[in-house]
This record gives sequence, structure tokens and C-alpha cells, in this order.
Amino acid sequence: MTRFIAAILCFLVSTMVVDSVTLSTKVKGGYWPTGSKIVPASSINATLFTHLFYAFARIENTTSLLIPDPEDNGEIEKFSRVVKYINPSVKTLISISANGPEFQQVMGTPESRQAFINSSINLARSNGFDGLDLDYEFPQSQGEMDNFSSFLTEWREAVDGLPNFTPLLLTAAVYYKPVLKWVGEGAYPIESIAKNLDFVNVMCYDFHGSWDVTATGANANLYDPDSDLSADYGISSWLKAGLPSEKAVLGLTLYGRSWLLKNQSEAAGLNATAVAAGPAQPISQSEGVFFYREVKTFIEEKNATVVHDWNLVTGYAYAENVWVSYEDPIIIDTKVKYAMTKSLRGYFFWAITQDSDWEVSSAASRTMDLVSSSLAPAEAPAPLPTSSAIRTPVSTVYIVVIMLAAMCAMIVFPYTGSSLSQVQKVGRFQ
Ligand SMILES: *[C@@H]1O[C@H](CO)[C@@H](O)[C@H](O)[C@H]1NC(C)=O
Ligand SMILES: *[C@@H]1O[C@H](CO)[C@@H](O)[C@H](O)[C@H]1NC(C)=O
Ligand SMILES: *[C@@H]1O[C@H](CO)[C@@H](O)[C@H](O)[C@H]1NC(C)=O
Ligand SMILES: *[C@@H]1O[C@H](CO)[C@@H](O)[C@H](O)[C@H]1NC(C)=O
Ligand SMILES: *[C@@H]1O[C@H](CO)[C@@H](O)[C@H](O)[C@H]1NC(C)=O
Ligand SMILES: *[C@@H]1O[C@H](CO)[C@@H](O)[C@H](O)[C@H]1NC(C)=O
Ligand SMILES: *[C@@H]1O[C@H](CO)[C@@H](O)[C@H](O)[C@H]1NC(C)=O
Repeated sequence: MTRFIAAILCFLVSTMVVDSVTLSTKVKGGYWPTGSKIVPASSINATLFTHLFYAFARIENTTSLLIPDPEDNGEIEKFSRVVKYINPSVKTLISISANGPEFQQVMGTPESRQAFINSSINLARSNGFDGLDLDYEFPQSQGEMDNFSSFLTEWREAVDGLPNFTPLLLTAAVYYKPVLKWVGEGAYPIESIAKNLDFVNVMCYDFHGSWDVTATGANANLYDPDSDLSADYGISSWLKAGLPSEKAVLGLTLYGRSWLLKNQSEAAGLNATAVAAGPAQPISQSEGVFFYREVKTFIEEKNATVVHDWNLVTGYAYAENVWVSYEDPIIIDTKVKYAMTKSLRGYFFWAITQDSDWEVSSAASRTMDLVSSSLAPAEAPAPLPTSSAIRTPVSTVYIVVIMLAAMCAMIVFPYTGSSLSQVQKVGRFQ
């Protein structure tokens, strides 16, 4: 009887252990723009993240090699050490700005790709990073994307080919949908992306902004029944095009976008008539942009009206003639639940320096932990055929399961050898 109770306890503990192993594969990502004065690397609350992206390293114009940002002042050397001091299990990645002519030059020949790949691996290794991330939002042509496809295969071969190292993680941040109007409806090379990258950060934001000053709009709405400008549309089209859900990471923002209303006495909802970008704020210093911490100040100082639109799943606030679209913990909570329901790999934020005392980042992290602990047993990880970084945790889960099963079995049948000899002893001495 006691054995049975012990076995049941053992099983429960095993389930919890397996859950925590499963959870560790989820992504709570955050980008840190290098050189931030308001949130230096040493004050990042790294416990709120599983992956931190150092943004950005640059491609040197003349050589096509990866180098630290000229403004970096040695931050790249300290970053991993500093954030791992707070959270030893956080993974750090160097994010590479790949949107200029320099990256097109890298794509151009197998030789320039190989030289770039070598330099990227060296930069990550020599500064203690766990991976590399490409910010590749605006590919310029189908030809470039075809070369990008080969590039990813070569990059993966290079990181997997170093026998004495855990392979570097390879990720990319991509446009919110895979088919690109400005490239004649060309598409990202999804097969190569799915095969070679550990996961992709899907930038589900910048849907409306001061590039259109005539009307207010949501920066990062989850849904929109009237248009394809929504996170759900983007994520769904990536999945439909063949990106496995375990490789898709939902992009969330810690900044909002603002407008000046034409007439502050008129209804100030979404799609209200506007005349200009909202005023520049003290920290973000750019017209039409509010960091979340500045939205908070705006709401307090102006006693602004706060609205949650549950049709689009987005938030906005307005006071006088200023209107700002942004995401607060209530909206983020719903979006993190969406990511979990769709079995996505997780979420990431641009940019963690814009949060207000880690309010939104902690809300997201808490929601994911809560939802994961209720979903995990049903969502046992399926073995993935592709990248090494997923393979490792999954096989770890199996090893743990087998070991724990063996332990539990030993409690019920405390090893067969001795019970047999007990039987023999009983027979001999009675
Ligand atoms: C970091 O976040 C954790 C989890 O929310 C919290 O317990 C801790 O107090 C935070 N630390 C700082 C310095 O804000
Ligand atoms: C980078 O190189 C290109 C030619 O490859 C040149 O046109 C451009 O001016 C250079 N840019 C800088 C910032 O040096
Ligand atoms: C890249 O590194 C590998 C191994 O270190 C070396 O064999 C190869 O020549 C390098 N290629 C370039 C283009 O630097
Ligand atoms: C793609 O690579 C080939 C050679 O591998 C090169 O001839 C071509 O110009 C490249 N295309 C683009 C758009 O970079
Ligand atoms: C602003 O809207 C109010 C209410 O609709 C209207 O009475 C007023 O004339 C409008 N002002 C301007 C300048 O259009
Ligand atoms: C936004 O407002 C304009 C002008 O009032 C209107 O033509 C347009 O249909 C509206 N868009 C949406 C999505 O409601
Ligand atoms: C703030 O606005 C609300 C209505 O939105 C109003 O009831 C309240 O009196 C205002 N408070 C201050 C201090 O202006």
C-alpha cells in the first residue's frame, strides 16, 4: 500500500519535472537596443526573459564582415556576462541589422556569405553569446531571398559543424506576413527558414503610424475584421505557408504610435480624423512615437481617457488633441494567451528599454507561466525533425521521462534480483 502511494507521489513529481523541462523551450524574448542610457544592460531584469537580443551589430560596408556597432563602446563584450549574472539560464543572441545594401552585398556571392558567416560566429563566440539573429524585415528582391535561402543552409552547416561546441542558436526577425507586395508578391524562403532556423520573431506591429497622418489607427492590433493588417492575419499566413507553429514567435511592442486629432470635440476612436503625427516625447524623441513609460506619464498627467477595443484587441488613450495607440498589460495578456492557444513558440518584445518598471514584461511572463502550467501536460512536445536546438530539449525530456519511469517502477518492484532471492530464501528457511 505504502509502495503504491509512493509510486503515485513519484509519478506526480515526475510530471512536474517534465513540465518544467517542457516549459524551458518556450520563448519569452526581448530586444535590447545597444547604448541605452535609461536601461543599461546591468539593470535588465533578465529573470523575465528566456532570450535576450543585443540589437544591433552591423555589417561593415567595405568588408561585408559582422562588427559591433561603432557607437557600442564595448557593450557587446559585457552584455552576456551582465545579464547571465541576473539569470544564468537566459540565452543571449546578437541581432544583426540586415536591411541595408550591406546585407545584399553579403548575399551576392558564396564567398562573401562564407566570410560573413565566419565573422558572425567569431563575434558571438568571442563575446559569450548563445546565438545570432538576423533582422530581415525588408528583403529587396526574389533573387535576394533565393540567395538568403542558401545562406541559411550555409549558416546552419557552419554552426553545427563545430564539434566541441553547443551549436549557436540561429533566428531571424521577419515581416508580419511571408508574402511581400513590394517584391512582386514574392515570399520568404519558408522551407529553408523552417529547416535552418531555431525560431522566427514575427514582427506583428507597425500596422498604422504617422506615415499616414490622416486617421488614427492601431499600431499592433491582434485582429481586424476589415483588413489584413493584424497580428492574427500575419501569424496565420506564416503558418498556412508552412512555418511550424513551434517556430513562430509573436511580436509584441512596448511603444505606441500617436496622432494629433483634427477636432478634439469629435469622437476620438480608431480611424478618427487626424492632421499630424503626435508630439515628440522626452525619451523617445521622435514624432508619432510614445514609449510605454511615456504613455503612462501621458495618462497620469493629462487624465487621459483609456479605451480597450476588444474587436481588434488593442488599446488607446487620448487627451486634448493627442491620441495614442499602445499595448498595456491587459492587451498583452490576451495576446500571450493567443500565442499559447495557437501553440506558438512564445513571444518577444521590441524593445525592453521602453517598458515602465518591467510592468508589461512581467505581465507577459506571468501569463505565459500560468497558461503553460495548465497546458503543458496536454501539449507534450512532439519530436521535431529539424533544428538541433529544439532537438536537445525534446530528447532531454525523453531521457528524463525514461529515468523517472524507471525510478517509479523501482518503488513498486524494488529490484527484481533481490525479490527473487527473497523468494528463494523464504523457500529454503521455512
Ligand atoms: C524582476 O522580476 C521578478 C519577477 O517578476 C521580480 O520578482 C523581481 O522583483 C524583479 N526584480 C527587479 C529588480 O525588478
Ligand atoms: C558603402 O559602399 C557602397 C558601395 O559598395 C557605397 O556606395 C556607399 O557609399 C558606402 N556607404 C558608406 C556609409 O560608406
Ligand atoms: C571560414 O572558417 C573556416 C573554418 O574556420 C575556414 O576553413 C574558411 O576558410 C573560412 N572562410 C572564409 C571565407 O573566411
Ligand atoms: C545571388 O547569388 C548569385 C551568385 O550566387 C549572384 O549572381 C546574384 O547576383 C545574387 N542575387 C542577389 C539579388 O543578390
Ligand atoms: C468640432 O466638432 C464639434 C462637435 O462635432 C463641432 O461643433 C465644431 O464645429 C467642430 N470644430 C471644427 C473647427 O470643425
Ligand atoms: C475610416 O474612415 C474613412 C473616412 O471616414 C472611411 O472612408 C473608411 O472606410 C474608414 N475605415 C474603416 C476601416 O472603418
Ligand atoms: C479625469 O477624467 C474623468 C472622466 O474621464 C473625470 O471624471 C475626472 O474628474 C477627471 N479628473 C481630473 C483630476 O481631471
